[in-house]
Amino acid sequence: MSLQNDESAKSYKEMSIYQIWVRSFCDGNGDGIGDLYGVYDKLEYVKSLGVDAIWFSPLYPSPNADFGYDISDYRDIHPDYGTLDQFKKVLKKAHELGLKVIMDLVINHTSDEHKWFRESRKGKDNPYSDYYFWRDKPNNWESIFEGKAWEYDKQRGQYYLHIFAKKQPDLNMDNPKVREEVKAIMRYWLDMGVDGFREDVINFISKEEGLPDGVPFLPAVNGMPYYKDGPHIHEYMAEFRAVCKEYDGCFQIGEGPMTTIKSAMKYLVGKDKSLDMMISFDHMMADCLYTEYVHRPFSLIKFKKAMTRWQEALDGKSWNALYLENHDHPRIISRYGSEFYHRESGSMLAACYIFLQGTPFIYQGQEIGMTNIHLSSIDKYVDVSSKTNYHKYHLKDSADKRLKRIYFSSRDSARTPMQWDDSKYAGFSKVKPWFYVNKNYIKVNVAAEDKDESSILNFYRKCLALRKGSKTLLYGHYKEHFPKDKNVYMYERFLDNERFLIVCSFSGIPQKIQYPASFVDKKGELVLCNYGEKRNAKTPGFEDRFKGDIENFALSHNMLRPYEVRVLMYK
Ligand code: NOJ
Repeated sequence: MSLQNDESAKSYKEMSIYQIWVRSFCDGNGDGIGDLYGVYDKLEYVKSLGVDAIWFSPLYPSPNADFGYDISDYRDIHPDYGTLDQFKKVLKKAHELGLKVIMDLVINHTSDEHKWFRESRKGKDNPYSDYYFWRDKPNNWESIFEGKAWEYDKQRGQYYLHIFAKKQPDLNMDNPKVREEVKAIMRYWLDMGVDGFREDVINFISKEEGLPDGVPFLPAVNGMPYYKDGPHIHEYMAEFRAVCKEYDGCFQIGEGPMTTIKSAMKYLVGKDKSLDMMISFDHMMADCLYTEYVHRPFSLIKFKKAMTRWQEALDGKSWNALYLENHDHPRIISRYGSEFYHRESGSMLAACYIFLQGTPFIYQGQEIGMTNIHLSSIDKYVDVSSKTNYHKYHLKDSADKRLKRIYFSSRDSARTPMQWDDSKYAGFSKVKPWFYVNKNYIKVNVAAEDKDESSILNFYRKCLALRKGSKTLLYGHYKEHFPKDKNVYMYERFLDNERFLIVCSFSGIPQKIQYPASFVDKKGELVLCNYGEKRNAKTPGFEDRFKGDIENFALSHNMLRPYEVRVLMYK
């Protein structure tokens, strides 16, 4: 199958998708919490980025034990965010602007405050009794977020399973009634007009019969061999796929924690194809293990290996979900880039993944280069997994060292209020926001970057426009060059007679480079570079620190400036 001729799939392949975590996006009704009124007002901004769709992290009612990923009603909107009517207004306006809207479908678990669970815990004779996993004796599984994976419920007199937080009991997908509920929920939103789903931890929804004891040496995920890609997963996924197929243009993106290419392929190709894209994690572990628990220095080699493996494996067969940030990961400049070379590394990181083969996802604030927040005490953090990380792991380390680990790893860094301008509270709200604003909002904000031609924000716009306008960047094949280079990521995209070379420095020190043999003596056109445009005087950059003949420095000397990216086109 030639990818560009696959008309049915063309739409999602040519898209780029903006993710909104609404609580921190924009407060429209003045209560300090982001909401759908704020979203409504900012839709033109979203459109101005050049994206084609919005993925909303859960908007549903939730006690917020896991900020929306613990749903207590799948068919409504959290009162903090507005009403169903307001959602419909947002949907309508988004569609008018040409933006598709996809919802988060969280079906591995509900909130313990969902009606199904409140009923289920009443006893074994209840119609909802088997909606969840209940046992008299728990197995040895640990949860990913909060200690043991089983919690005793007094009312029912049994333990229930929760792979995530205590307030997130796992749904028993083996129960056909539960699957019918899921399908009805999908139809409910699709009938309203939404365009697809991002499906939360979707590879966890089928559990091994009997729930056997887990493997002792896998802390927090010791049960994973028995709940990842479980025995009936593809049957269940086929049922959900059939619902999506009832609706024209509906597409599905799965989130696959710890997925391998081999297991992801089963969801993505062949007779069991049930997803259009899979959100994988390999490339997000270039500075850590399991995102939160073990931090290590960033390794470009690890990052490149992960990217290249996925690019090569999926080429011509399936399609990548490309991302560097979302609500589950700390900010990418603080991880793989440099806060000192903020503009340079933020723009280089944009190009380094947007030009890969796949659909780019951009997370709110990423496009202006928001960075991690450092709070002075663990009590100021609100994310359940950060609290567990601090209070239950690495206890031999000093409090200070443990807090530093939270700086690197906390999901809260992705959840600080969006920085719109340099007014009080960053223009996010007129009153004190629900969570701390990163102090750098004075410089790092939408209003300032919008005006600055050389900003990260405008660089994102340029990258997305360049990608969209080029068949080669959309559908071309991928080839990595110099994979052993520890500081430079260089890859090629090629289709028919056209080639692009994307050259990215991941270093604050100038890098001497060579071009691949097949490019030497070929005349390339520099179509994009994050150096050389007039710099806003307020944004310190390379020029301000290293005087000299900057314009000609790099190209003539085969030298990359700190965090420089070049996109070269060869015809
Ligand atoms: C993945 C979601 O992205 C994350 O935010 C959530 O905590 C877990 N799944 C559990 O739903």
